[in-house]
Amino acid sequence: MNKPRLNIGMLGFGAMGKAHAYAVANLPYFYGDLPFSARIAAVATSSAERAAAKAAPYGLTAADEAAILADPAIDIIDVCTPNRFHADAIRAALAAGKHVLCEKPLGITAAEAAELAALAKASGKVCRVVFNNRFFPAVMRAKQLIDEGRLGRILSFHAAYLHNSCCDPAKPAGWKQNADICGGGVLFDLGSHVIDMVRYLCGEFTAVSGMAQIGFADRAGMDGQPWKTNADEAFYLMAELSCGARGTIVASKLSLGASDDLHFDIRGTRGALRFSMMEPSWLEYYDAEAEGEPIGGVRGFTRIECVGRAPAPGGNFPSPKASVGWLRGHIGSMYAFLDAVSRGDAESGPTFADGAAINAIMEAAYASAQSGHRVVLEEN
Ligand SMILES: NC(=O)c1ccc[n+]([C@@H]2O[C@H](COP(=O)([O-])OP(=O)(O)OC[C@H]3O[C@@H](n4cnc5c(N)ncnc54)[C@H](O)[C@@H]3O)[C@@H](O)[C@H]2O)c1
Repeated sequence: MNKPRLNIGMLGFGAMGKAHAYAVANLPYFYGDLPFSARIAAVATSSAERAAAKAAPYGLTAADEAAILADPAIDIIDVCTPNRFHADAIRAALAAGKHVLCEKPLGITAAEAAELAALAKASGKVCRVVFNNRFFPAVMRAKQLIDEGRLGRILSFHAAYLHNSCCDPAKPAGWKQNADICGGGVLFDLGSHVIDMVRYLCGEFTAVSGMAQIGFADRAGMDGQPWKTNADEAFYLMAELSCGARGTIVASKLSLGASDDLHFDIRGTRGALRFSMMEPSWLEYYDAEAEGEPIGGVRGFTRIECVGRAPAPGGNFPSPKASVGWLRGHIGSMYAFLDAVSRGDAESGPTFADGAAINAIMEAAYASAQSGHRVVLEEN
């Protein structure tokens, strides 16, 4: 049988464009004989003049966005542009009959994200948002343990995504610190990941109370000129879930000493889980039903050696005993998306509907921060 040949047109080739291109190029090493073949057919960036020079070191071809969208040989549009540009690219890609992979967050407003989710559903195309952290073996194991009921009823959670990247007031604001381009502040950037993680593992959000913080109101802007920060640098959220669980979520770039620190702590009636992306090889599991006598018996948090044990066919190379790093999540995310495209599976997530749900939660969080009141989310 002929394998589907998937040609990808990439819009945006900064940090994430490179991460996605790396993932596509390395899929055969991690997954062996793929059920599809995939290649980046062309990349576009904001500057047609610089695109070729940016793409060349990676053996990629540059083209302009309109040409990529119009090319019938391109099956998939991979949106890796700053957030403000996601929606138009997605509308154009779906109108041109392409499948779409879009970096997080899906949209700028909840209404825009809902519109994109509706367009995706009507198109029947495979459309996913890149919530790559779902694809660490340890996070996949956490999901299995929760689905097996090993935590019982989830009672509470504490989750955070911490960076130190806004701690230096002398550092100029980039587009992620500019709400006009980012759509929000750190809540949009890191918060979208950690909110997705809590929703994926624990369930739907029903209400939120939020508080935003700007640590340094005055810094240089993107043009080097004095700039008044217009986007949160830290965001603190209390969240209520439909399962009855309550918890806190923090997204912060004001966390001195933090590198790329996404972690969660989930407590249920039968067990508990802890994970930190700074030590992504391990999932910590507490089984309340383990023997507690004598002197503590064998009860206590166990470090499960998830390491490189990705589910088949992704767990053979490198050796399953080898440690994992940040790029493994992107490789797993890319494999899952392309495999779904090759099978015509538009249902499994993270779908655009998931992305729209995250946008709705973030919008409610900002409304709460502005009003000082708890905001109840509309049922979705
Ligand atoms: N999933 C993750 O781990 C992760 C991490 C960082 C960023 N992101 C997301 O990825 C996206 C891109 O972020 P980044 O860090 O790569 O940004 P970046 O600034 O490094 O790169 C952005 C790229 O987009 C290009 N660009 C800008 N405007 C464009 C336009 N209108 N049309 C075409 N290209 C355009 C730029 O030239 C550049 O190549 C954002 O949505 C961001 O939220 C995801």
